[in-house]
Amino acid sequence: MSTVFDINSLARENIRNLVPYMSARRLGGKGDIWLNANEYHTAPDFQFRENTLNRYPECQPAAVIQRYANYIGLQPEQVLVSRGADESIELLLRVFCEPGRDAVLFCPPTYGMYSVSAETFGVEQKKIPVSTNWQPDVASIKNNLDRVKLVYICSPNNPTGNLVEPAALRQILELTRNQAIVAIDEAYIEFCPQHTTTRWLQDYPHLVILRTLSKAFALAGLRCGFTLASADIIALMLKVIAPYPLATPVADIAAQALTETGIQTMKNRVAEIVSNRIYLQQELSQLALVENVFPSETNYILVKFTDAEIVFKTLWDKGIILRDQRKQPGLENCLRITIGNRGECEQVVNAINALSSQTQQIKETENP
Ligand SMILES: Cc1ncc(COP(=O)(O)O)c(C=O)c1O
Repeated sequence: MSTVFDINSLARENIRNLVPYMSARRLGGKGDIWLNANEYHTAPDFQFRENTLNRYPECQPAAVIQRYANYIGLQPEQVLVSRGADESIELLLRVFCEPGRDAVLFCPPTYGMYSVSAETFGVEQKKIPVSTNWQPDVASIKNNLDRVKLVYICSPNNPTGNLVEPAALRQILELTRNQAIVAIDEAYIEFCPQHTTTRWLQDYPHLVILRTLSKAFALAGLRCGFTLASADIIALMLKVIAPYPLATPVADIAAQALTETGIQTMKNRVAEIVSNRIYLQQELSQLALVENVFPSETNYILVKFTDAEIVFKTLWDKGIILRDQRKQPGLENCLRITIGNRGECEQVVNAINALSSQTQQIKETENP
């Protein structure tokens, strides 16, 4: 009798040890109100116009590239479109980092895919925790740049919701000149567009900016993201990207989302979400179970509770699904809440309010 062969033994060691990214969909839950993936609450309405599904699509659909370039005021050669910003995070690693030799640097708590992608490619990670006010610790970054070829900076940062101060960004860009790529992840920048660093591309040839249609454009299911950089960096990324990264229907809808009307609709959506965010922040900050509602420039807020576990679980049981951040460094008792429509925000407030009253009653019974 032969023993059963363990197929895992064939896998690369880092893949055997890899803890995959726990996306909102993988985490599951039975919700009516999904506030755990920073998506828009309502599906936008699009019609497919492109029927040539017998043909392979363009690698970089010209209409999509041209419209995105117009939208942000860059040249088409400075724009790459990919299967979400997540694919761009990976492409940068594949272009710039030699596994086992080079390193990437980022500043937790931050978006989880920098770590998962680096792990997947066997690239060393230097994790430099943020300092006060969630800002990067520039002195520590300076001391840890040895072998670093790629720095990911998320601004506004997921999950904390804050922008990285421009002065800190410039310091990091100066420290890395001629040495490493700095990728600024602007997935949420449409919620604070005046803070984009796109204009800095002319000053820093090693700057890369990541963008997406998943957030303010309400198209997370489309899987479409953009990289903005020098034409030279884009040309390098085009060497490693899949031959057909975007399906024809994806390019079709992305091109429609980037028309003048599409962009105006996106801006109206942003105004709605910002107004709901202010409402949710004001209401939550008055509740007993809430210790801190952090400021946010995005479509989500980070909230510190006196007991996040009970809040998370109580709302989960009511079908309101939030994102638990308690395992992230420095985020004890913190939950991240996506800003939904006004009714959804009201339900969050009501559910936490009811729980606050219950907890208060229990306390009073125990300590009359
Ligand atoms: C900071 C950040 N970057 C990138 C992404 C991924 O974007 P995409 O949906 O375009 O892959 C996300 C998604 O949540 C994000 O929060």
